Amino acid sequence: MKTYIGIDLGTSAAKLLLMDARGKILNCISKEYPLEFPQPGWSQQNPSDWLTAVMAGIPELLQGFEGITVAGIGCGGQMHGLVILDAQDRVIRPAILWNDGRTAAQTAWLNETVGKDKLSDYAANIAFAGFTAPKLMWVRENEPENFARIAKIMLPKDYINYCLTGVHACDYSDASGMLLLDVKHKCWSKEMLDICGVTERQMPKLFESYAPIGMLKSEMADALGLSANVVVAAGAGDNAAAAVGTGTVGDGDCNISLGTSGTVFVSQDVFSVDARNALHSFAHASGKYHLMGCILSAGSCNRWWMEQVLKTSDFAAEQANLEALFGKNDVYFLPYLMGERSPHNDVNARGCFIGLRPDTGRECMTLAVLEGVAFALRDCLEVAKANGLNISRTKVCGGGARSKLWRRILANVLGIPVDVPRVEEGPAYGGSILAMVACGDYPDVESACEELTAIASTVEPETALMEAYERKYRNYMAIYPACKDLFAQLTSE
Ligand code: XUL
Repeated sequence: MKTYIGIDLGTSAAKLLLMDARGKILNCISKEYPLEFPQPGWSQQNPSDWLTAVMAGIPELLQGFEGITVAGIGCGGQMHGLVILDAQDRVIRPAILWNDGRTAAQTAWLNETVGKDKLSDYAANIAFAGFTAPKLMWVRENEPENFARIAKIMLPKDYINYCLTGVHACDYSDASGMLLLDVKHKCWSKEMLDICGVTERQMPKLFESYAPIGMLKSEMADALGLSANVVVAAGAGDNAAAAVGTGTVGDGDCNISLGTSGTVFVSQDVFSVDARNALHSFAHASGKYHLMGCILSAGSCNRWWMEQVLKTSDFAAEQANLEALFGKNDVYFLPYLMGERSPHNDVNARGCFIGLRPDTGRECMTLAVLEGVAFALRDCLEVAKANGLNISRTKVCGGGARSKLWRRILANVLGIPVDVPRVEEGPAYGGSILAMVACGDYPDVESACEELTAIASTVEPETALMEAYERKYRNYMAIYPACKDLFAQLTSE
């Protein structure tokens, strides 16, 4: 039977998954790599670390299986990261990632001088610090010698695809997050390219996520123990890939990802723009569109609290007896460790605990971290509702979604049922589904999802808890406006 490799090129690790033609997962592995914060608010990674992880990961994934059966590879990748290559295909500088906040000045210039209306007209979105266009402007202003050497511009997963196939490609879902794509018409925006001082020759060729971009280069096939007939799909941004992996492809379907970032992803059959531009308006990996809110720190808050502060790796033990505190915790946590994207668009925002007393213990603080992330996701959901979207239930995926406790908090903070998919590896599973479609094994993404994705269980909201969390959410909502000016002052000092 044919098999397919799905890759989730994440921020903390590359997760690789081997799937058979019936959608059964045969094996899964994860390869971690470092994340650098060279200055406060900056976030970088070396593309060579991603490649090393994938090159070592595929043979490990295939141990005990026949490499020759692999028919296709599809990758879902962390979005927005700027990868630049010179004319000899050398990486010019470390990739500047989606959660990097160095571009405050460029973002403000785009939104205020070019203007939000024009940006929205050109690229369906306003500027956020993590998007790719302001990063290109930052390189032009701060590293002109690097900017002058740029021959190819690409996103993280496109670097992997380029190394595998030699084809400089990008799919529409990921390209949407560059602020260089005319999302509605699915072509590069001449105006945006001009603003950033780049040309279409430097940009990747555009594909639908489920389209094949090429075959594996023969030297890559040899190094990986695969046949050279392996089709490489264009792949997708990790959130669109996760939506495919959880079957979030119908109009109005919602998926929440609790990875390093947290996202509220709403699939849309037709293109639309959030009038207030708080939600991103992007293409979907299904060939349609989606609206999305993104909080920069979700699973990363929990990881930071557990590993850096509590110095433990036993997350489950820390979360073990917290349900007794549900709805009663009067400690609040703002999860803005890397500033915040949706809905505040504020690189200066910071994390904080509010409401500590002499009897506050680690349990209340651990719970506050999980609740704070859920409240921040609720902020995104509220924007979606204000946009007229009727979200009556959601799916959930990502590492954080493995926590039963967090899923219950989420269902009660959002006040909607949370469906837990049979397969929790959203982006990697979605990547392998895209590979199947690219191989011609399904006519389209929707029919593949129909057959390959399913819900395992549902977490229903509970009336009393929902009411308690509603009150707490009102308090939570008051904290950011009260701290906003102070955050800006702290940054300016
Ligand atoms: C989405 C975003 C994040 C990254 C995480 O806009 O920036 O979800 O894709 O990998």
